Amino acid sequence: MRRGNLAAVGVLATVALGALLASPDATCSGGGLVEAAEGSGVATGVALSWHGLTEDKDYASILIKDASLVTLENASKWSTIHHQAGGAPDYQRMDALVDFAEDHDLAVKGHPLVWDEHVPAWLPPDLDPARFQALHDAYVAGVVGRYAGRIAAWDVVNEWIEDDGQPSGAPWFSRLGTDFGPRVSRRVQALDPKAKLFYNDYAIEWDNQRQRGVLDLLQGWRAAGVPLDGVGIQGHMVAGLSPSRAQWRQAIQRFAALGLEVHLSELDVRASHLLGAEFGRELARAQAFYDAVSACVDEPACTTVIFWGLTDRHSFMNRHDPQAEAPTLRDRQGQPRASWYAVAAALRRQPWPACAASVLPALAQPTTAPVDLSAVLAEGLDWRISATPAQAGPAELLLRIARPGRSPRFASLGQSTGPGPILADLRLERLPTRLDAGETELGLVARSPGGDPLALAAVDLRPRCDGGG
Ligand code: XIL
Repeated sequence: MRRGNLAAVGVLATVALGALLASPDATCSGGGLVEAAEGSGVATGVALSWHGLTEDKDYASILIKDASLVTLENASKWSTIHHQAGGAPDYQRMDALVDFAEDHDLAVKGHPLVWDEHVPAWLPPDLDPARFQALHDAYVAGVVGRYAGRIAAWDVVNEWIEDDGQPSGAPWFSRLGTDFGPRVSRRVQALDPKAKLFYNDYAIEWDNQRQRGVLDLLQGWRAAGVPLDGVGIQGHMVAGLSPSRAQWRQAIQRFAALGLEVHLSELDVRASHLLGAEFGRELARAQAFYDAVSACVDEPACTTVIFWGLTDRHSFMNRHDPQAEAPTLRDRQGQPRASWYAVAAALRRQPWPACAASVLPALAQPTTAPVDLSAVLAEGLDWRISATPAQAGPAELLLRIARPGRSPRFASLGQSTGPGPILADLRLERLPTRLDAGETELGLVARSPGGDPLALAAVDLRPRCDGGG
């Protein structure tokens, strides 16, 4: 975060965000995402948090506007239900959350039965495999049996494939035997024949070894007749490094080709690595959400998008990655962020609202002073600039980069030979030199071929909406 720019961020971001929110495409925040999703073929859900529901008075009223289903964020995990050493299972939280969901007509996704995290802490690490399996079997029989008929879908296996595409070597998994996935799937199907069964994993939206490994695994399960209805692509994203809409579509299509239903099951976006202004980072996060949700709307096999945390107050990133900044669709007060509006637009098959107008206020008069972009720009977005010199003729557009009080350096962005605006694409990470955190002053200037300053009459800056270059 560039602290020096905070004042400017406040003013500019308010102007620009105000314009964005007032755009006709960005209306209806009152109606919630459930309303926005009507007719999209995609259901929206959120991770249902016990703490959120019991400690935040606004949680329930916001949730029922944005979600028609919930994933139990922690309540159905092994360590939650069997938190007492050797004691009876404790279904208190899960009972309350499933009741809440039913009272509000929310479908429930249970999550996850097999995972090498959230194993009861009291289990001795050297517990012999037979005893370990017996305890796990008891957990599955108990939780699946108790809620049979009330759970729309179960994440049966979570995160079993490693980055190299091979099955996890975690001792946890090996103690269940290599056939545990199919075995548990069959047991769940027998205990609750109506529940859909899912495999769930992260970073499989990318064309990588991990995705290939999961595709191979699930193809094998299909061939062997293992009960399996769908795959959850978690989608914990990083702004500026998130898949394009086309990449998301390709991933969804690959899983759909196995005959599987697809959920984007744990969507959030962290922005911690990004350099630049808060407003720009906000737009970069929104772009990541927009691309993911648009791809789901595009693809018939993709039926559901689930956001991991209702508001920034309830994001697991607060503990997992405290630099994550603003990973959900709503701020800590529950107000929609640009990300929320981007998702609403994606569900309505509308353009992303930020693309509909310049994020800069109009120039009051032609100026040779640098047009201040420091409150708006950030890494992670492909920006499109249209800058109109006050006088016709050849001109060069440059980004002026400076530390406060020091002499600036310049990066050429584009040139024009004739009248009309100079068009340029800008991605901060792709400048010939890397920006330094101390370089907090970013401005646009124009020069003649001879190097003389040229006045700019108008500057339009907006994120590219065609997937970037
Ligand atoms: C997270 C929960 O959100 C946290 O509250 C908990 O402390 C840790 O687990 N992938 C998953 C989820 O499949 O179960 C994880 O949920 C987030 C990563």
